[in-house]
Amino acid sequence: MPPLTYANYLDLEKLLTLQKPRSTPAEHDEMLFIIIHQTYELWFKQLLHEFEKIKMDFSAGDLFGAIHSFKRTRTIMKTLVGQIDILETMTPSSFSSFRDRLETASGFQSVQFRELEYLLGYKRPVALAHVKPDFPGADRLQTRVGERTVVDRFYDFLETRGAQIPDDVKNRDVTQPNGPDERVQKEILSLYKQSPECSILFELMTDFDEGLQEWRYRHIKLVERTIGAKKGTGGSPGVPFLKESLFRPIFHDLWAIRREL
Ligand code: HEM
Repeated sequence: MPPLTYANYLDLEKLLTLQKPRSTPAEHDEMLFIIIHQTYELWFKQLLHEFEKIKMDFSAGDLFGAIHSFKRTRTIMKTLVGQIDILETMTPSSFSSFRDRLETASGFQSVQFRELEYLLGYKRPVALAHVKPDFPGADRLQTRVGERTVVDRFYDFLETRGAQIPDDVKNRDVTQPNGPDERVQKEILSLYKQSPECSILFELMTDFDEGLQEWRYRHIKLVERTIGAKKGTGGSPGVPFLKESLFRPIFHDLWAIRREL
């Protein structure tokens, strides 16, 4: 066995040969386009990893574990938003020079992004419709359809803090998206007021949720300035489709109670 080095621990030889521009002659900006998407996918992988832990923390009532991990996920989210600045240095004409090479490939088909939405609680059928069964990871996404979400596990957490979660909420059909519930909001509200440590967690969850919406907004603006009203390579109407989820929260109940605080 060769001694462990920086390069073989990180498998750099493999990693650094995974950038394969398709344009000939090579368009300078295609490298950036590939690297930025690969970087996003790596961060999506890390987010999925963190949220698996958060799910366990929630069910175990581990408040400080969840606080710690939400701090990390919201910080990753800020990096994901910040990275858009780099891609916005690519002009529309530069993108057009290799866009045809993308054929029908699109972030629309990112299985990990969909997994993230599903794992959090935003299970929308449109996502499955665009992930073909032979895509790598399509089976993982299918498994997530039937799994309890981060929001479902959040209900577990609230119960460990003495909240009353109605049976129909606890036994809901987990293949559907999570939605708001006024009875749950009442319980969260009283914890907000009585338990400062829980309110820290609720604020961090709201930070993450706001970060995801911020990412959606910045992505839409990136799309608008780069391709305008053109349709997406993934076959959606483009910007109008993306606007559908723009202000949609993950943690509905945490947003709904804010007028009462
Ligand atoms: C020039 C840059 C970009 C353009 C023009 C662009 C364009 C689009 C368009 C038009 C869509 C709608 C679906 C379609 O019909 O294709 C879309 C969806 C999506 N894109 Fe991008 N995109 C860009 C960069 C990125 C980057 C850097 C990421 C990072 C991973 C990304 C991730 C996504 C995701 C996850 C979706 C699905 C969003 C949803 O369903 O709400 N895109 N993109």
